Amino acid sequence: MEHLNDTAKKWLNLSNTERILKCKEQLWIGYPRALQVLDKLEDVLDHPKSLRMPNMLVIGETNNGKTVLVNRFVSKHKHYIRETDNSLILPVLLIQAPPRPDEKRFYNSLLDNLGAVYKFNDHIDKKQYQVMRLLERMETKVLIVDEFHHILAGTPSAQRVFLNVIKYISNELQISIVGAGIKDAYYAINADPQLGNRFEVASLPSWKPDDDFLRLLASFERLIPLGQPSNLIREELAMKIFTMSDGKLGEISTIIKKAAILAIENGKEYIDTKVLGAIDYIPQSKRKNQLNQVGF
Ligand SMILES: Nc1ncnc2c1ncn2[C@@H]1O[C@H](COP(=O)(O)OP(=O)(O)OP(=O)(O)O)[C@@H](O)[C@H]1O
Ligand SMILES: [Mg+2]
Repeated sequence: MEHLNDTAKKWLNLSNTERILKCKEQLWIGYPRALQVLDKLEDVLDHPKSLRMPNMLVIGETNNGKTVLVNRFVSKHKHYIRETDNSLILPVLLIQAPPRPDEKRFYNSLLDNLGAVYKFNDHIDKKQYQVMRLLERMETKVLIVDEFHHILAGTPSAQRVFLNVIKYISNELQISIVGAGIKDAYYAINADPQLGNRFEVASLPSWKPDDDFLRLLASFERLIPLGQPSNLIREELAMKIFTMSDGKLGEISTIIKKAAILAIENGKEYIDTKVLGAIDYIPQSKRKNQLNQVGF
């Protein structure tokens, strides 16, 4: 069972149904680029308070690991009660940008994530005050805004107001802002040049068929509880997975997990090109044609 890590080896003792559930769980693979970006986020967190706090923009194509990565960072810096004074400390706060740049919704979302009690109809100034005091009291150092590109879904003036809110929070409290999103997030932030040049861009590029990709496949193989080695890094298998996935991490993960489930169900216990060909999977590029095919 040398093809599996210790945890996956233990899972081999589970029933097929339980093993299939394991295949569906969210996995974490610390691939090199993710580790580099996590290190950068640590640097941002460690930065002492200053008039010019470092900010970051994590940019990548859709379905390529941004949300998983920022959640990983958050899980390493969970809230805790400080023993010396019994204060609740929240080093990192993660929220999603509202679907449109809407100041009120943004404050509501911050208040919800801070576990605050507020009235929906409270005046925006009151909400702002409440957010600022809570972030201050909880000594929050980094505010992460996922889906940052949602800002572009508003009028230029709504975008400006929203960026000013971000700037205000960052300046007033001297906390760092981390935006995550597709490349439009870069354009969104650069609509305000002053803000734009305060953000360092960290990209999560799509995968190429190189050694990093092979290492990624090898990592998946070690985590997926199949009884036999698949040797996913074999050229024909690796290239098939690469072509099917179009180099998107989410697709690579879906393909391998679906293939593993099929290999458990049919008793084969390893993945080969036949299994890959038999999974119920439509490549992302062809998915938009699905509605046409069912007559819409
Ligand atoms: N580090 C990782 N290890 C293993 N699988 C991962 C990792 N990161 C992402 N994935 C897989 O890729 C999928 C997509 O990741 P994620 O949701 O983070 O993408 P995203 O870039 O935020 O996409 P979107 O732009 O659509 O929000 C995840 O559901 C997971 O299956
Ligand atoms: Mg995401």
